[in-house]
Amino acid sequence: MRSIKFFSAALAAASILAGSASASLAATRCPSNGTGCSLAQVARESGIFVGTAISSEMSATELSDARANFNAATSENAFKWDQMSRTQGVTRFDQTDALVNWALAAKVRLRAHNLFWHRIQMPQWVTQSLASSSDPAATLRQLMKDRVNTVVGRYRGKVAIYDVVNEPLKLFGAGYDTQDTAFTPKNIFYTTLGESYIADAFRLTHKADPKAKLFLNELLWDARIGDPKSDALLALVRRLKKAKVPLDGVGLQTHAMLGVKSPNFPSSTSSLKRYIDALGKLGVKVEITELDVRLPLLASEPDPLAAQAAIYRRIASACGKSKACTGLTVWGQRDADSWLDSYGLTRGTAPNRPLLLDDLGARKPAYPAVGAGLLERCASSGKRRPCSAAWPRIPR
Ligand code: XIL
Repeated sequence: MRSIKFFSAALAAASILAGSASASLAATRCPSNGTGCSLAQVARESGIFVGTAISSEMSATELSDARANFNAATSENAFKWDQMSRTQGVTRFDQTDALVNWALAAKVRLRAHNLFWHRIQMPQWVTQSLASSSDPAATLRQLMKDRVNTVVGRYRGKVAIYDVVNEPLKLFGAGYDTQDTAFTPKNIFYTTLGESYIADAFRLTHKADPKAKLFLNELLWDARIGDPKSDALLALVRRLKKAKVPLDGVGLQTHAMLGVKSPNFPSSTSSLKRYIDALGKLGVKVEITELDVRLPLLASEPDPLAAQAAIYRRIASACGKSKACTGLTVWGQRDADSWLDSYGLTRGTAPNRPLLLDDLGARKPAYPAVGAGLLERCASSGKRRPCSAAWPRIPR
């Protein structure tokens, strides 16, 4: 309840702020090193959306911080299946309504995350109904259809982007998870329906809201050509586009160093840029969707915060340099709010301090580093601002 109250207060504040936003469009151009300007300004100048995860627990202050720093937001949990529907046949809309209304009033581009994700936050009643069904494939198809019609139907025309399918591929390596393991449950959508569940999910969503842009969001440990999981994602996108599935974009989560598989993710700016370009050539836009960089894994660096900023910079530069990249979103605002401090695999190293603002809301070195990376989009465009066209349009 607390969250809803705060959302309403923030809604009023957002409407006022939105009115003054264009007036406050800084007359002074952001310097190329990103220093002294907000990421919202960087977004306006570069034409690349910059966002943060928005939680229904956020206070009015946090929401107005989000409005001041960013021009895009992703629902951290409010759209997830188990958050909206803990019991079969019952859907709660209070948190999602509040979030959608806040984004519309604040003129912040909203990414609804997500419709289908087997890994976590999948309601138990879904798996139970499949287990007790005589025709699990038909049951799952119907449940997917109901979810899309209930959720996407309600917000038709109000949500800019949906993450329709989240993390379809195997956690480690190529292919799909077909067995439960210590790290992940099997992909029950895949084991019940085969790969066609992905195309079906996109087609259903497109029918329910033809204007929303539809993304497939994936977790890659090191997004580069030649890495088996990254190549599997490229191949999947190629198949979907060939089959004319309404897929507009691919989200690269970029929880940098979530594991220890690639401690210097990305290997380099150019390897990530090449990968984004390769996706772009298949006819999709690309966004960095859940960026965070764990600080404890950089503890042996002479200046860990500078090393963290350098990783943020590499990732933002790759987005700035690749025309296919239309947005970059960090997974939360202040360090103290990061999911990594409560997540099983990473809470042991808390505080992970992976974000752009410290516990008190002050900008860390990584903040201007992100701005500098994205402003590389403008390196060759002279005085013209924005130096690229923002995509997609924010619904009104
Ligand atoms: C996380 C949220 O941040 C947590 O609050 C929640 O408890 C678990 O999920 N990949 C995703 C996101 O796609 O949905 C996850 O978000 C982080 C990993």
